[in-house]
Amino acid sequence: AAAEKGGWPSFMAKEVAEQPDAVANTIRGRVQGDQVVIPELDGLDELFIGIDRVIITACGTASYAALVGKYAIEQWARVPVDVELAHEFRYRDPVIGDKTLVISISQSGETMDTLMAVKYARERGARTLSVCNTQGATIPRESDAVVYTHAGPEVAVASTKAFSAQITALLLLGLHMGRVRGSLSDSAASDVAELQALPEKIAQVLAEEQEHVAQLAGWMADTRSVLFLGRHVGYPIALEGALKLKEISYIHAEGFAAGELKHGPIALIEPGQPVFVIVPSPRHSALVHSKVVSNIQEIRARGARVIVIAEEGDAAVLPFADEVIRIPLTGAMFEPVLAVVPLQIFAMALATAKGLDVDQPRNLAKSVTVE
Ligand code: G6P
Repeated sequence: AAAEKGGWPSFMAKEVAEQPDAVANTIRGRVQGDQVVIPELDGLDELFIGIDRVIITACGTASYAALVGKYAIEQWARVPVDVELAHEFRYRDPVIGDKTLVISISQSGETMDTLMAVKYARERGARTLSVCNTQGATIPRESDAVVYTHAGPEVAVASTKAFSAQITALLLLGLHMGRVRGSLSDSAASDVAELQALPEKIAQVLAEEQEHVAQLAGWMADTRSVLFLGRHVGYPIALEGALKLKEISYIHAEGFAAGELKHGPIALIEPGQPVFVIVPSPRHSALVHSKVVSNIQEIRARGARVIVIAEEGDAAVLPFADEVIRIPLTGAMFEPVLAVVPLQIFAMALATAKGLDVDQPRNLAKSVTVE
């Protein structure tokens, strides 16, 4: 097993480090010139034309990738997208039919809840597309089409490289659907360029922040609760950051949409409470950025220990942050793939500091093939 880890202390550490390759391999062969063309979807344009809604269904980490996909597909393909946990979707009477595209996301392709949701959608006449990391798995076989993520085998129970590859696949899919539906704006070419620059930028986050974040986690080994705030595509990353921490370090953690702060979560803030805040770039929306910065001020004023993830050069966060973790500049839709990396490292380092086995967390299975 030591050899399989290739010198890394755990599969999780290895898989976190493999993310530049996971993302690059998922993009490879799917860009032609300045356009996204997914060869597996050749001849399947009718999956995307004449639909009036998209439902993305998944469980766990994959459901947070799905939430990022909602923002991207709505933006680029101009079709309403809802995200449904697979086990909630199938046990009611959802309004679906032949104009619904149901996209499932699953690393293993074997999660029973997700599989049953796909079968249910198909029986109701919906079109089905699977985003999956495992060649020939059951969910892609039960779907009309499949877009594979090429993250390589993921062994650690807590998903890392499969997650960044899933987001990548959904970004590709959003740009592909937008092209097919004729809804892309003139800036799509620069989005494609941003997508292709992602692997290098993930490598940069790993190189520049790994030690800093690990040190931070070491200092926080006694922490009993950590909160995560994000807005827009930073919101799913807040949820994922909290899930990683729960899964492998057994610490109470919650992710919130930053805009919800004043509607409840701010009551949790007491002196010393650690809060991660994922700050969106001011270059994409000065307004959204300023709202998140004022959230930071609000929690800081109540004594929170604020750890900010912000793009390089964003100085507005400096006066109110106890710690600043930097990510390189990228397009608005691409920030999640960079921002999640320090949160994965944090969870891993904190679990390690507590002496826990990060690859085999208690009570969890890599793939849940029962309901
Ligand atoms: C399990 C794993 C999670 C994973 C979820 C969905 O709960 O522990 O890490 O996110 O299943 O798995 P899938 O293979 O469908 O992506």
